[in-house]
Amino acid sequence: MAESIFRSDILLGKVALVTGGGSGICYGITKTLMAHGAEAVIVGRKADRLAAAAEELTRLTGRKCLAAPADVRDPAQVASAVDKAVSELGKLDILVNGAAGNFLAPAATLSPNGFRTVMDIDACGTFNVSRAAFDKAMRDNGGIIINISATLHYGATPLQVHASAAKAAVDSITRSLAAEWAGLGIRVNGIAPGPIDDTEGMSRLAPPGFKEQLTAKIPIKRFGTIDEIANVALFLCSDAASLVHGATIVADGAAWLAMGPGLGT
Ligand code: COA
Ligand code: NAP
Repeated sequence: MAESIFRSDILLGKVALVTGGGSGICYGITKTLMAHGAEAVIVGRKADRLAAAAEELTRLTGRKCLAAPADVRDPAQVASAVDKAVSELGKLDILVNGAAGNFLAPAATLSPNGFRTVMDIDACGTFNVSRAAFDKAMRDNGGIIINISATLHYGATPLQVHASAAKAAVDSITRSLAAEWAGLGIRVNGIAPGPIDDTEGMSRLAPPGFKEQLTAKIPIKRFGTIDEIANVALFLCSDAASLVHGATIVADGAAWLAMGPGLGT
C-alpha cells in the first residue's frame, strides 16, 4: 500500500462499520481506516463479494475485517450487522454510511418505485444504520459518523431526481444528527465526492465516451481517486477534526463550482 501522510496508528483500537464497504469508494475508505489501526465490519447485500472483500482487506492491512451481509433498508438486518461489530469486535467507534443506489433516468419515466428505492437505500438506510449504531454503542460511548453524499443536489442535475433528493436528505440527516448528538460525544459529518475514477458510480453516470468531455471541464483536469476520498474520511475520523460537526466536505477538484451541479450536462 502507498505510504500515508498520516501516522499509521491514529485509529489503533477503534472499530469501524462501513456500509458499501465491499466495493468502490467505501472499500477504499475501509482499507485506509484499517491501514491506520482500525478493525472493521463491512456491510452490503452480496454476501460472496463482501466475504471476498473482507478477506482481501485483512490480507492487505493485517487487521480483522468481518463481512456482515445486510440490506440497509431493513432495520432488523441492520441491527444484526451492528450487533456483529459489538459482539465480535467488542465495540463500535466509527460508522461510514456509504451504501447507495443510482442510475440515469428521466423524471418523466422514472417509476414511483424507482424513486422510492433510491430514497430508501441512501436516505432511510443512512438513518437506519445511524440509529442502530446509536442505540447499540454510540449513545453511551460517543463515536464518529460519516455520511457519503454527492454534489448532485446543489442545483438541479438532469436524470437524477431520485439520487439528488436522496443525497439532499442525507445532508439534512448529517446536520440534524450532528446537532442532536454532539453533546453525547458523537461527531457526525459528510463527504461529497465529485467524479471519482474506477467506480461503479462513475461507470453508471459517465460512460467512457463522456469521461473525456467531463474531465476537460473539471478545473484540476482529472477525476478524483478513491484514495483521495479515503483520506478525507481519515481526517474526519481523526482528532484533527474534533471541532468539525455537521459539515459535508466537498472533495471534487472544484468540479461543481466550475460546472454547476451534476456532470455538466
Ligand atoms: N432506470 C429506471 N428505473 C430503474 C432503473 C433504471 N436504470 N434501475 C432500476 N429501476 C427501477 C426498477 O424498474 C424498479 O421500479 P419498478 O418496480 O417500478 O419497475 C425500481 O427501480 C427498483 O428496482 P430493483 O432492481 O428491484 O431494485 P434493487 O433494490 O434490486 O436495486 C438499484 C437497487 C436499482 C439502485 C440497483 O441499481 C443497485 O443495486 N445499485 C447498487 C449499486 C449502485 O447503484 N452503485 C452506484 C452508487 S452511486
Ligand atoms: P459502489 O461500488 O456501487 O458502492 C455502493 C455500495 O453500496 C456497494 O458496495 C453495494 O453493495 C452497497 N449497497 C447498495 N445498496 C445497498 C443496500 N440496499 N444495502 C446494503 N448495501 C447496499 O459505488 P461507488 O461509486 O463506490 O459509490 C460509493 C458512494 O459514493 C455512494 O454513496 C455514492 O453515492 C457516493 N458517490 C460516488 C461518486 C463516484 O464518483 N463514484 C460520486 C459522488 C458520490 P451490494 O450491491 O453488495 O449491496
